[in-house]
Amino acid sequence: MRVGGKRVLVVGATGSVGGLAAGRLAELGASTALAGRDRARLAGRAADLGGRPYHSFEAYDLGACEALAPWAAEVLGGLDAVVVALGVAGFGAARDMPEAAAEHLLAVNALAPMAIVRGALRVLPPGGGVSVVTGTIVDRPVSGAADYAAAKSALAAWLGVAARESRRAGLSVLDVRLPHLDNGFAGRAVVGTPPPLPEGADAAGAVESHLVAPLLERLGSGAAAEGART
Ligand SMILES: NC(=O)c1ccc[n+]([C@@H]2O[C@H](COP(=O)([O-])OP(=O)(O)OC[C@H]3O[C@@H](n4cnc5c(N)ncnc54)[C@H](OP(=O)(O)O)[C@@H]3O)[C@@H](O)[C@H]2O)c1
Repeated sequence: MRVGGKRVLVVGATGSVGGLAAGRLAELGASTALAGRDRARLAGRAADLGGRPYHSFEAYDLGACEALAPWAAEVLGGLDAVVVALGVAGFGAARDMPEAAAEHLLAVNALAPMAIVRGALRVLPPGGGVSVVTGTIVDRPVSGAADYAAAKSALAAWLGVAARESRRAGLSVLDVRLPHLDNGFAGRAVVGTPPPLPEGADAAGAVESHLVAPLLERLGSGAAAEGART
């Protein structure tokens, strides 16, 4: 299926999941705009994908997060979908987590995605939607990751309500619960070291089946799927 003519913002495009999603969507003919934190890597990725518009931001600046979708709608001449794939892991027992790290995990994994989606829901047209990466940790929180799990669960709860509220406007909000992947995400934790983890799933395959395929289906049908999970 091709998605020529569809305009998609990918947030977290400098990362593994966001980069894979941006690459596939570009391959399929979507008109994409990219957002990420590391400006140099973002510029490189935008160039690799044929010269896409890009915008760098920091998750702590919630106003900047909220402004990403309006920016994309402006540079793409409209917007059909937003993929939100930013996040950071953090490990440590609940009683030992430094407050600054707890705040960081909540800001990057919950508050920033919520602000991005808030901005998107204001500019997306009926039939449009957002796909936001949470993770299977929402369903199966593991010891040693209470703060990361709490942030992802907060985001998942918020997305569930936003999905219900957005249905009337014809907008879909997808909660993408990716499994643990083989891309080294846990090793990039902002704090602590990961507990023993099972072998990660193939990142490209998981992004294709959990994120890109449901997004294509939605872009193709324009149908809103309330509170859908992938
Ligand atoms: N990989 C897994 O095993 C797995 C499993 C389930 C769910 N997930 C979720 O999938 C999403 C993407 O993970 P990934 O594997 O692609 O991780 P990744 O490769 O480490 O990418 C993380 C992305 O988040 C951005 N980011 C981190 N801190 C930021 C900040 N303070 N401000 C703005 N952007 C920030 C990074 O930007 P820069 O690179 O520009 O700094 C990058 O674009 C995350 O939400 C993660 O929780 C991952």
